Amino acid sequence: MNDSRYDLVVVANRLPVDFSVRPGGGVDWQRSPGGLVTALEPVMQAADGAWVGWSGAPDLAAEPFDADGLRLVPVTLSASEIERYYEGFSNDTLWPLYHDVVSTPTYHRQWWDAYRRVNQRFADAAAAQAAEGAVVWVHDYQLQLVPRMLRDQRPDLRIGFFDHIPFPPVELFQQLPWRRQIVEGLLGADLVGFQRGGDASNFVRAVRRLTTHTTRGPIVTVDAERGTLGRHVRAGAFPISIDSTHFDELARSPEVQARAKEIRTELGDPDVVMLGVDRLDYTKGIRHRIKAYGELLDDGRIDAARTTLVQVASPSRENVGAYQELREHVEVLVGRINGEFGELGHSAIHYLHHSYPPEEMAALYLAADVMLVTSLRDGMNLVAKEYIAARSDEQGVLVLSEFTGAADELGAGPLLVNPHDIEGTKDAIVQAARMSEREQRRRMRRLRRKVMSDDVAKWSQGFLGVLQAMPRRHVSVVAS
Ligand code: G6P
Repeated sequence: MNDSRYDLVVVANRLPVDFSVRPGGGVDWQRSPGGLVTALEPVMQAADGAWVGWSGAPDLAAEPFDADGLRLVPVTLSASEIERYYEGFSNDTLWPLYHDVVSTPTYHRQWWDAYRRVNQRFADAAAAQAAEGAVVWVHDYQLQLVPRMLRDQRPDLRIGFFDHIPFPPVELFQQLPWRRQIVEGLLGADLVGFQRGGDASNFVRAVRRLTTHTTRGPIVTVDAERGTLGRHVRAGAFPISIDSTHFDELARSPEVQARAKEIRTELGDPDVVMLGVDRLDYTKGIRHRIKAYGELLDDGRIDAARTTLVQVASPSRENVGAYQELREHVEVLVGRINGEFGELGHSAIHYLHHSYPPEEMAALYLAADVMLVTSLRDGMNLVAKEYIAARSDEQGVLVLSEFTGAADELGAGPLLVNPHDIEGTKDAIVQAARMSEREQRRRMRRLRRKVMSDDVAKWSQGFLGVLQAMPRRHVSVVAS
């Protein structure tokens, strides 16, 4: 095809930049921080890549433009589509359903209609950018219909899909009125990737339960229909990671090291600094964590005068009711504990409802003796990996929920907790706060061996390698 089409097209809900359109029609843009772009930039630069995504703002239309050598293709969403497709179906239907219904999902037909319409728009934009035989890599739960929509238009493409969040057990998934359409949408891909082996098996079970396609291990055979031959679709686990070397180097820089010391001084030089870093999301178990911490202060098992919890809760999805409620609950809880245990010049909890740049995050990780990741369900949890990558001093303890993808990967290095078990979580927090330097080093070494070697470049190369190695020819299937 002609030169203006691309050999690798990434399709994700968000573009990796924030941008505005000048009155004359030009575009001003700014890099928005995010793991995905770091992961994909090298492969995209090497492969002549384009990225299709939404700007994050309503009604912002712009022609495709280049930013830092990447071709960016904006998809426009109206205010009502943001409400129904993004806040509604993606974040008030799929998000809670896929995270073990820790909040109740809402099912609205109008939201589903908008989800379909917007997925079609993303698929059309990707189809227009992809060269003959190109690889198209579709990301996450917002775009699960795109693989099938793309294949209908462009059977020549090699299509990969990666689900960044959990895929639920079929017993929960089948609540969804449009469960079959979602499964068929994903099966438009050649390769469907998940964070954990368990997510991939949940998906294959959903295929078996909800469709007539046959499965053999991780391979689904999609029956021939409408004059096309049958195809094989592979499901597999590809646990995502971070740019570990970059984070390690950032945390070693003299500025960040100095800032880490300064943070401890600003906190009043406590004996123990504990840290939580999350989007303010009900899946993250922030309330469970704060409850456990508050009870430990109450029981006197940790000394309120000598200990501080810093909780960074970055604003997220603020128009969705469940997020507004969570914010109120967390803020009431923090206020109560600080009222009870704070002193002039010392807070029991430093609650920060902001986002911070990576330099400040690295300094916070370095300043923290104990890192608390207590998600009720989490696809991976990259904060856990960032903490490990920052700790080249081999100190610090990671308390990690067993319901994260990271727990599957990190084995015996962290102190694993079930965040619903408040007593068990309290015991792990105390154990972390009292852990000897030697034991910290032993555990952190183990964690760093894993995180420093399995970085995000390995993840993207692994996924694309399997996708590209898949046989090109469609298989013929004898109807049974
Ligand atoms: C999770 C999802 C991403 C999403 C991110 C931030 O990590 O897997 O797809 O982009 O949260 O959420 P937001 O709704 O602000 O894009």
